[in-house]
Amino acid sequence: MAKIKNISAREILNSKGEPTIEATVILSDGAIGISSVPSGTSIGKYEALELRDNDEKRYNGLGVLTAVNNITKQLFPAISGMEASNISAVDKKMIELDGTPNKQRLGANAILAVSIAVAKAAAKSAVLPTFLYLREFTKKEASLRIPTPSFNILNGGKHGDGNIDFQEFLVIPASSKTYSEDLMLGTNVYTSLKKVLQTNNLSTLTGLEGGFSPKLGSNQDGLLLIKQAIEAINLRLGFDIFIGLDPASNDFYNEGNYRIKDKATGLTSRELIDFYTMLNSQYHLLYLEDGMAEDDWNGWQELYTTLSKVTLIVGDDLISSNPFRLQEALQKSAVGGIIVKPNQIGTVIESIAVAEMAKQAGLKIAVSHRSGETTDDFIADFAVAVGADYVKFGAPVRGERVSKYNRLLSIESQLASL
Ligand code: PGA
Ligand code: ZN
Repeated sequence: MAKIKNISAREILNSKGEPTIEATVILSDGAIGISSVPSGTSIGKYEALELRDNDEKRYNGLGVLTAVNNITKQLFPAISGMEASNISAVDKKMIELDGTPNKQRLGANAILAVSIAVAKAAAKSAVLPTFLYLREFTKKEASLRIPTPSFNILNGGKHGDGNIDFQEFLVIPASSKTYSEDLMLGTNVYTSLKKVLQTNNLSTLTGLEGGFSPKLGSNQDGLLLIKQAIEAINLRLGFDIFIGLDPASNDFYNEGNYRIKDKATGLTSRELIDFYTMLNSQYHLLYLEDGMAEDDWNGWQELYTTLSKVTLIVGDDLISSNPFRLQEALQKSAVGGIIVKPNQIGTVIESIAVAEMAKQAGLKIAVSHRSGETTDDFIADFAVAVGADYVKFGAPVRGERVSKYNRLLSIESQLASL
């Protein structure tokens, strides 16, 4: 039993060179939890609010000193002395104190930083690895295993420096192997893609999540290059490894029209679905996230009806880790899987709850990082704790991405000795 004794917070930088929050929680038994929170670039409109200072004199208005101040002046006094092991009560207290549906008063970034740091400190205090500690807050229905990694090896949309519309081109190893083998497989394809790009005189500079971001003629060209990269190392597409896409289609949707480089004119929802169907026949799309825009419910329902037998239809911006949006998606039979990003909802306990709700409904769960990350590896533990089917941590490069992949290696060996 240990109580929350002290909380400090500071403004630090994320992988985009933008401010974010680091929080430190100290418990009465000396256990310490340190967290730092991520930040999205293609942010859905149903996400909890990330509080920024909007003071143009600092970091182009992106400073988080108000949120830092909210931690020390409001959140800490409210939860000081509370039992840290009761993370539900701590998170609930912070949610109540904020009092808004999207955490806009105190900031989801402030609340989540504290929530994660408390969970980490409580795990330390219980002398348990964070994944095992968090698992106690789930129904423990799934067996303890490492989720299948999906590697974002080509970055377009808002994440890329190139010119393709689809935001993420993912490769996903067949789930029959161990996590270490999957990690090597994904890394081999990434390296192979680099060679394919060089052979084609294309840029190997990378985007926000470490994937390459060359200038290409079309989105289909991206898929073709990945297919070549897979075949160049004698892997079988659709057997050893699969392709997934997160087009993040909000970003090329406008008033009923989807505009992509592959087509001269804007597409209706139905035409875009036909395009995805064609891509699936050529590239074995195992996974399709945010194929439709976040308010295009009819499109989502049609996409699910058309492709869900062969492709996992996943909602990210559509659901934004929000239980009400998930409920709506379930009622409408719009998805087969959900992205869970703790910073879309703002506390650990609500993130666990939405994952549990999805699992109960038979959905697949993909736990995801954000494009603006820190080296905090909490979501690796979180993903294992909630029994996620997939994790999405970017390309297997750059400190803020590999910290999560490497944490899973450590958990893999811990699981082997349990
Ligand atoms: P974001 O993108 O972190 O920039 O929001 C990630 C995603 O859309 O999955
Ligand atoms: Zn997404």
